[in-house]
Amino acid sequence: MKQLYAGKTKDVFELENGNYLLKFKDDVTGEDGIFDPGANTVGLSIEGAGKAGLKLTQLFFEKLKEKGIPTHYISADVENTTMTVVPATVFGEGLEVICRYRAVGSFLRRYGKYADEAQALNGFVEVTLKDDERQDPPISKDGLAMLGILTNEEYETLKELTREISQVVKDELAKKAIELYDIKLEFGRDANNQILLIDEISGGNMRAYKNGEYIEPLALEKMMLNN
Ligand SMILES: Nc1ncnc2c1ncn2[C@@H]1O[C@H](COP(=O)(O)OP(=O)(O)O)[C@@H](O)[C@H]1O
Ligand SMILES: [Mg+2]
Repeated sequence: MKQLYAGKTKDVFELENGNYLLKFKDDVTGEDGIFDPGANTVGLSIEGAGKAGLKLTQLFFEKLKEKGIPTHYISADVENTTMTVVPATVFGEGLEVICRYRAVGSFLRRYGKYADEAQALNGFVEVTLKDDERQDPPISKDGLAMLGILTNEEYETLKELTREISQVVKDELAKKAIELYDIKLEFGRDANNQILLIDEISGGNMRAYKNGEYIEPLALEKMMLNN
């Protein structure tokens, strides 16, 4: 098995048949020991975080599969904290697509002059460039087309898929009386140029609240997985 990449929360390997293997680690993003899904550094390591993240990822990707939404998911091996996926090429050097239902995090930091904390945002979609050095700058549809990262048509596909996928996650959380405030997704193209959801959907990719109280990723995973 060849290691292709060492990420902040996962390592990526290439399998002999060409598929990729994602190894979930116990590292989570944040700063100074405090979890922050928007952070670009590993803030802390929590025993069991990798396994819990994989289990929640598995739950959501299985749901998306049932609904016929294209993703890279093939299978998950919870014992070994790995997930086998279809290899994809990312847009540019990688994008994050965020869907927002309430104003928190970087949205509030940027637009706090016009938005109140936790104000409803109705599934607002925005794209940021994965660029740790430049703190993942937001970029518009026109900017993405101008820089040759996404065509206008691809942007629309990405936006539609993001709204659809985020709604699936939102509905799953709602079954446990948990409210999704925002979520961050990644996409890529497969060998046939089809756009797929890639990466993971774990507690570390979203902000969720119960009765107005923020739920930490590991607690969220426990609540969603019923143990
Ligand atoms: N199916 C896939 N094909 C190619 N790359 C993928 C796929 N799924 C996830 N990735 C990439 O693998 C990496 C996973 O490791 P992670 O620790 O999340 O990295 P990062 O530090 O970049 O967030 C990410 O860069 C993600 O974009
Ligand atoms: Mg990541």
